Amino acid sequence: MTGEVAAGEQGVEQAVQLLREGWLVAIPTETVYGLAADARSDDAVARIFEVKGRPKFNPLICHVHDIAVLEDDILVDGRAQRLIDAFWPGPLTLVLPRRPSARISLLASAGLDTLAVRTPRHPVALKILETMGGPLVAPSANRSGRISPTQAVHVQNDLGSDVSLVLDGGPCTVGVESTVLDLSSAEPRVLRPGAIVREQIERAIGPIESGAQNDGPLKSPGLLSSHYAPSKALRLNATAVAPGEALLAFGPEAPKGAALVLNLSRSANLREAAANLFSMLRELDRSEANSIAAMPIPGEGLGEAIRDRLKRAAARG
Ligand code: TXA
Ligand code: MG
Repeated sequence: MTGEVAAGEQGVEQAVQLLREGWLVAIPTETVYGLAADARSDDAVARIFEVKGRPKFNPLICHVHDIAVLEDDILVDGRAQRLIDAFWPGPLTLVLPRRPSARISLLASAGLDTLAVRTPRHPVALKILETMGGPLVAPSANRSGRISPTQAVHVQNDLGSDVSLVLDGGPCTVGVESTVLDLSSAEPRVLRPGAIVREQIERAIGPIESGAQNDGPLKSPGLLSSHYAPSKALRLNATAVAPGEALLAFGPEAPKGAALVLNLSRSANLREAAANLFSMLRELDRSEANSIAAMPIPGEGLGEAIRDRLKRAAARG
């Protein structure tokens, strides 16, 4: 069932209730409407990719009302703190190193060892985050490849019944997505230009990479050097296992003989498989096995994204 409600006190309560139960809620932010989900739930995060129809697992931005919420999840250095003091709440997203102990879904980071975070300025978004108490991932609330929504009705038209609730907080005042600044290495770099411009950032932390992405094509997160790939060799479309191989299985019938078997989804559910993908890859990589074999994944729905990610992991393995 989809509802669209005004973002009054009741709307906020209802939204938080649904989010806690693992559902998706479209929420207003100052930039664009976001499709929000509990950032700590693999299943809820997988649902986002499914609803957006993203062919790849593009990493998501984690939204919090206060950076302290992510104390155990990310590393905040002096540069990040200065930018937070200067621009939050507001349309600036920071890409920061992810702690190994992070409880945010690995799927939200798309397997990278970084996490993008921001505190939005819209009062309704802030109220939801505060009431929720925990982090929410929220990509723009449009289907992949469509234009970002800046009014509740855009979301309703684009996502329809695939979203549990659309919270109407009026038209977005900024209207373009947040600036994304990579602070995960020594040289800060703008990955996506937005309402907070380079000069403002430089006033807070000094000069940033001249090769910033303001004019050229945006750097694909899939090409970042911190991109996660298993250290063991990964073999795709395996229908049998060799001695010493660990198996990443999919579906009810897995070949026998693997050193270790983790099943992405015994019931061949692609959302469940997406939710398990990165954590199972990591676990197999840590195991005693010599290498990893992955069973074939069907190409429809989220399968395309899972295949894409497995292909990248295999190429670097
Ligand atoms: O204004 C916004 O940022 C909106 C509102 C809803 O907050 N959200 C948004 O999310 O635009 P999305 O998913 O449509 O765009 C997120 C961008 C993508 O370009 C993604 O590649 C990048 O941020 N990104 C996210 N996590 C990243 C990471 N760990 N490293 C590099 N880039 C990342
Ligand atoms: Mg988007």
